[in-house]
Amino acid sequence: MKESPFVYGSTVSSKSFTNREKEAEKLYQNLTQGINTTIISPRRWGKSSLVEKVINDINQKEKTFKTVIIDLFSVACEEEFLEVFAREVIKSSSSKWEDWVKTGKNFFKQLIPLISLGIDPTSDFSLSFNWEELKKHKDEILNLPDTIAIKKNIRFIICLDEFQNIAAFPGYDILEKKMRANWQRHKNVTYCIYGSKRHMMTDIFNNASKPFYRFGDMMMLQKISTENWIKFIVESFAATDKTIQESDAEYIPALMKDHSWYVQQLAHYTWQKTEKNAEKEVIIEALKELIYANTPFYQKEIETISTTQLNLLKAIIKGESQFTSTLVMQKYKLGTPRNVSKNKAILTKNDMIHEVDGKYELLDPAFELWFSKHYFNQDYVNL
Ligand SMILES: Nc1ncnc2c1ncn2[C@@H]1O[C@H](COP(=O)(O)OP(=O)(O)O)[C@@H](O)[C@H]1O
Ligand SMILES: [Mg+2]
Repeated sequence: MKESPFVYGSTVSSKSFTNREKEAEKLYQNLTQGINTTIISPRRWGKSSLVEKVINDINQKEKTFKTVIIDLFSVACEEEFLEVFAREVIKSSSSKWEDWVKTGKNFFKQLIPLISLGIDPTSDFSLSFNWEELKKHKDEILNLPDTIAIKKNIRFIICLDEFQNIAAFPGYDILEKKMRANWQRHKNVTYCIYGSKRHMMTDIFNNASKPFYRFGDMMMLQKISTENWIKFIVESFAATDKTIQESDAEYIPALMKDHSWYVQQLAHYTWQKTEKNAEKEVIIEALKELIYANTPFYQKEIETISTTQLNLLKAIIKGESQFTSTLVMQKYKLGTPRNVSKNKAILTKNDMIHEVDGKYELLDPAFELWFSKHYFNQDYVNL
């Protein structure tokens, strides 16, 4: 049996990657022309996949660039960030581990890195510092890519994923000023910084009183269009000896509101359940399975919010928009107008809701379906 053409849960950059031609072209141009770029979108819309794809393209076509992608999602403190940053920059500067050791030894003036190599040095190379020393000489780490680039006559593209994660560290404001002051001067290094917490990312990069204001070009990544998803689904079925009619395929992005991860997940379940031709009924079965699989997450989500926040979600799902009108406040038990505005802010900050053209929407389309069923006993679909 053929493998499913649909992928969710990990980034997609070659197989299963669709669309994004314009965004990819722009990012490619920016990064190869020295324009720092920030990318912001809700999670699971496709930032990491887009960057991975563009970096792969650059690696294939441009030999003068050394590229590195650093995911800051699980980095726990500033010192760890600086260590990871130094290690990954060194590793990307050459394909030979002997060079890494040389670079580690030769490129620091104040800091003395501790290097250790495992049985297979290529996969087992570590570099650490005395953390007290590290704190005193942050600039040396932050400048490392430019220092290496000048000496070795190379250029770097450094991608920092889930960047907002480091903004929560104690002392971030000092680090932030240092990053900006140093990175801005780097002539041989281009930065691509992206993250999912839109609230935090926007505050870091689009606030005139913050150091990173106007650091570079800012891309607000949008969803992939419905037409594109339909084409992608029909073609992917065909390529794996199954079929789906356009008029059925369109239910998948419609149900999942073009949300990248969920469109792929629903398409995957549908594909799996299909022997030869996917019918509407199969999509409904697949949808039930998808919601069932995600239910534990949704239940957890609900547990983290207060009753008035939950009620506000109900009002939003029911299409209300005048949340502070007496009628709506009473009907949904939203509390006081102050509660309403506070809860709106909290749910927005948590990325549960967002404002589109002056109207609030839930960000997670499958959560919305589950919620409607759970609280209003509403069917998932009326096809
Ligand atoms: N260009 C794309 N084409 C097809 N599917 C995509 C694309 N971008 C993202 N996806 C789907 O969305 C999921 C989440 O993408 P990811 O790049 O991890 O998003 P983000 O970094 O914004 O959280 C992927 O696992 C994949 O299923
Ligand atoms: Mg990501």
